Amino acid sequence: MSFTNQEKFVDSPRRWALRGDLLDFTAAPRWGDTESSAVRFDRGHWLLVEDGRIVGRQAAEPDATWVRKDHAGQLVLPGFIDTHVHCPQLEVIGSYGTELLDWLKRYTFPSECAFADPARSRAGAEVFLDALLASGTTSAVVFPTVHKVSAEALFGSAAARGMRLVTGKVLMDRHAPDGLRDDVVQAEKDCIDLISRFHGRDRLAYAVTVRFAPTSTPEQLAMAGALCRADASLYMQTHVAENRAEVAWVGELFPQARSYLDVYDAVGLVHERSVLAHGIYLDPHDRVVIADRGAQVAHCPSSNLFLGSGLFDWPGAAFNVSLASDVGGGTSLSLPRNMLDAYKIQALRGERMTAWAALHAATRGAAEALQLGGEIGGLSVGQTADICVWDWAAGPVAEARDAVARELHERVFAWMTLADERNLAACYVAGRPML
Ligand code: GUN
Ligand code: ZN
Repeated sequence: MSFTNQEKFVDSPRRWALRGDLLDFTAAPRWGDTESSAVRFDRGHWLLVEDGRIVGRQAAEPDATWVRKDHAGQLVLPGFIDTHVHCPQLEVIGSYGTELLDWLKRYTFPSECAFADPARSRAGAEVFLDALLASGTTSAVVFPTVHKVSAEALFGSAAARGMRLVTGKVLMDRHAPDGLRDDVVQAEKDCIDLISRFHGRDRLAYAVTVRFAPTSTPEQLAMAGALCRADASLYMQTHVAENRAEVAWVGELFPQARSYLDVYDAVGLVHERSVLAHGIYLDPHDRVVIADRGAQVAHCPSSNLFLGSGLFDWPGAAFNVSLASDVGGGTSLSLPRNMLDAYKIQALRGERMTAWAALHAATRGAAEALQLGGEIGGLSVGQTADICVWDWAAGPVAEARDAVARELHERVFAWMTLADERNLAACYVAGRPML
């Protein structure tokens, strides 16, 4: 079955070179450091790309055998990695007046029912992935819906674009409306089939996808844990400790569990490839468990503010933290917009988040936490050419601000504060232009 048309994407030359102000990371910057040796900034340097990979990074102009794209005076970053976002929720962005549990019931669950229709799933995946690319996000860890076809559609559309994508059919067999529940036996069969067809193919990977503890029976959670234990190369994604009422509900549903996180950990769902969204209401023991297991928390700042969920303790995290839009709880697919919200969350906590912390979490930090550091998240030789070119400023306000910035962090922080998809000048996935 074909899910999308490939013709829409133009091919690029086999060998080409791009010049601009290259910015990426060689390590994790320390919290609070505005000057950091982890930041690698090469103004007006060239990246050489061959067969979709970066093969050179240099000051010297390449010879005439290289097709040249000159982005001098523009900011060149690795494509962003959104580690937690919901494909079927574009239509519920900006839904008024609720916290998490009512928001799910009133807006999100009814909207997700439509993805039972294969045509709707396919059209939704196409629009969603194009919107990610238009925001400068070239890789993502994505929730589809409970419907198998919604995962198939995402895999198909991502493969057509050559994108690095992690997803898997959502598991939910209780506390959800008709048309949005599976059962343990059929869900297991669907997962096994999807894993055999998509996991490790092209740049696709499968994530065992538990929506959250309240919508899975203990039997389904045990099945999900068994899938992870049977194949350590699988990812796992879920939500944890996002909202106070949600945490209290999990306590009622799983009275034997030490904590919300423990519901997952007890069945083997917390491991090196686990992406745990939110993690606002973790206790000190949970924090140690996440660090020990090598799992990551996907911090979802615009969602946490919009749904009034709470203020994530980023500087207190001894585990990997990546950055995520969590659309449609989140209000923008743009990771710079989410970085600004992350800054405001820390400001409310009396902390200061640097542009380096945010950019690292959206690039190299996420890539390493996903064990994909050799492939994505940077502009090093050998990595796949997932590259975005940004205008330093878009419009008179940003231009005025950019003109007076003195040192690098000041300039990049102002860019992060003011930038959105209007700033995106070019986006390449494995060397192919996507805009
Ligand atoms: N918890 C369970 N499902 C969801 C969801 O779709 N969005 C958010 N933000 N939290 C959830
Ligand atoms: Zn979410």
